[in-house]
Amino acid sequence: MTRGRFITLEGGEGAGKTVQAARLRDALEARGVGTVLTREPGGSPGAEEIRRLLVSGPVERWEPLAEAMLHAAARRDHLLHTIEPALERGLWVISDRFVDSMIVYQGYGQGADLGVLERLSDLSLGGFEPDLTVVLDIPVSEGLGRAAARAGSNRYERMGTDFHETVRRGFLARAESDERRYAVVDATADPDTVDRAIQKIVAARLPVLFDE
Ligand code: TMP
Repeated sequence: MTRGRFITLEGGEGAGKTVQAARLRDALEARGVGTVLTREPGGSPGAEEIRRLLVSGPVERWEPLAEAMLHAAARRDHLLHTIEPALERGLWVISDRFVDSMIVYQGYGQGADLGVLERLSDLSLGGFEPDLTVVLDIPVSEGLGRAAARAGSNRYERMGTDFHETVRRGFLARAESDERRYAVVDATADPDTVDRAIQKIVAARLPVLFDE
């Protein structure tokens, strides 16, 4: 059995990750590739319980490193119970956020030490990393506007414009540091255009399936 591939979608609030992750799942399934669509924080029963501690309550609820540790614990559970078993079965796993969100939100955004976060990432994942990470990039005002139009707001959406500007720069800096693993897509375009751009990247980086 050929091992599956692991693709993550990353980016700030309101970039359209959730919609595009579902579209990519549909496109792969239409070409006969079995997939698992998942998300972080969450993606396994244990990690979904931890998610509730992270996305609700006052903004200042957690100290940044403690918050990163909660994300890392959730991620390890997600890896062991959802991601790794699916990859072993030959399925392609698409995750709406993964470890880059921790480095960027808790590190760049909340100020936890980036070196410590890299160590925490190694500890929780043991060197495991995505085959491809697509960063959906959108100006902060536009992304927060889209997010505000949805029902309810989570703890992170309340963290202020400067925080989210730093998050945007963090994702772009990570993408620039490793062009092999990352690709950046302009998420201001309409969903069909973004969808096509993502499919083109997947076809080029993880050759399988897509017609031009
Ligand atoms: P979302 O599921 O609506 O994207 O919300 C999850 C929030 O969690 C989002 O604002 C980003 C944040 N987050 C972190 O701060 N660190 C992490 O490691 C992950 C996975 C998400």
